[in-house]
Amino acid sequence: MNENKVVVLGGGVLGTQIGLMCAYYGYDTTFWLRSESSIGRTTPKIERYSGLMLEDLAAAKALVGNPMGAFMYPRGLIRSWNDATVESIDELLETGKKNLTDRIHIELDREAAVKDAYIVIESMSEDPEAKKNVYSQFRDLLDEDTILVTNSSTLLPSMFAEYTGRPDKYCSLHFANTIWKNNTAEVMGHPGTDPEIYAKVVKFAASIGMVPLQLHKEQPGYILNSMLVPFLSAAQGLWANGVADPETIDLTWQLATSAPAGPFKILDIVGLETAYNINQMKPAAQQEGTTENKIGKLLKEKIDKGETGVNAGKGFYDYTK
Ligand SMILES: NC(=O)c1ccc[n+]([C@@H]2O[C@H](COP(=O)([O-])OP(=O)(O)OC[C@H]3O[C@@H](n4cnc5c(N)ncnc54)[C@H](O)[C@@H]3O)[C@@H](O)[C@H]2O)c1
Repeated sequence: MNENKVVVLGGGVLGTQIGLMCAYYGYDTTFWLRSESSIGRTTPKIERYSGLMLEDLAAAKALVGNPMGAFMYPRGLIRSWNDATVESIDELLETGKKNLTDRIHIELDREAAVKDAYIVIESMSEDPEAKKNVYSQFRDLLDEDTILVTNSSTLLPSMFAEYTGRPDKYCSLHFANTIWKNNTAEVMGHPGTDPEIYAKVVKFAASIGMVPLQLHKEQPGYILNSMLVPFLSAAQGLWANGVADPETIDLTWQLATSAPAGPFKILDIVGLETAYNINQMKPAAQQEGTTENKIGKLLKEKIDKGETGVNAGKGFYDYTK
């Protein structure tokens, strides 16, 4: 086994970001993609996210000595902000740039992709059948000792453990979007995960610039979304029931808790389509007159106008000004 080899299954938004963080920290990183057309979709993402990572790293030089720097630097890319200097960031830029090109491989052949891998990170679409199918395709190709993790946001590892052929070496390792800045890694086993493997996954997460956050048991939504989803729903309920407008709700939260952003700013970052999809999954969303139904209608109006959040330039706030 090659302790320096990482494989990412899936080259979507998160898969690409995870692979790039591994390469940045010197792991030989292979993206397994299922077809030539997937290569055409993943290559521009690799270029885009590597560019953003290096841009954010270069911008951090201007933050050295600024007391606000500690809140603004790309946390996943600089291990210790207190020790950072312009020179040390220049060195990171040099090795980072090199690693982000030299350490990345794309492979279509399953066997060649995972041969000798230390860890395989599954980050495919959130589709349980597709995940089961891919685990079944890989189960006999992985080395005996290879660790397998899933980045699934909403599905539990116990749903898939039996399909992996290595339940003891399988758990969740859940990252957040824009991983090089928001460097959380929630580590969640299922009842059959070997504690030694769990500990290795925690160590691995730290080795790629993440802060490992350990869950002691399975929890849908992990730690973050178990808190965030109800919080955002409560804020949307206040808006949909006409209690207060989004700006006032955000202001209340920020003034009272010193938080840097309120729920509607967070919704703009998450994206209104995702908020809408989460809301519509609730049975009450289909019943006329419920708070969830009102939230669904209001979100849909904004989505139809193209006001889907920060990426679109407008959501609850206007980002074009
Ligand atoms: N987007 C986020 O903010 C976010 C955050 C944390 C975790 N996640 C999780 O990460 C995973 C991937 O999400 P994403 O946002 O990167 O999705 P995405 O749609 O951007 O990418 C999905 C990738 O899976 C590939 N894929 C789909 N079906 C496949 C199959 N049968 N065989 C091989 N490849 C297949 C697609 O080609 C694509 O490369 C999901 O489990 C999601 O829950 C996403």
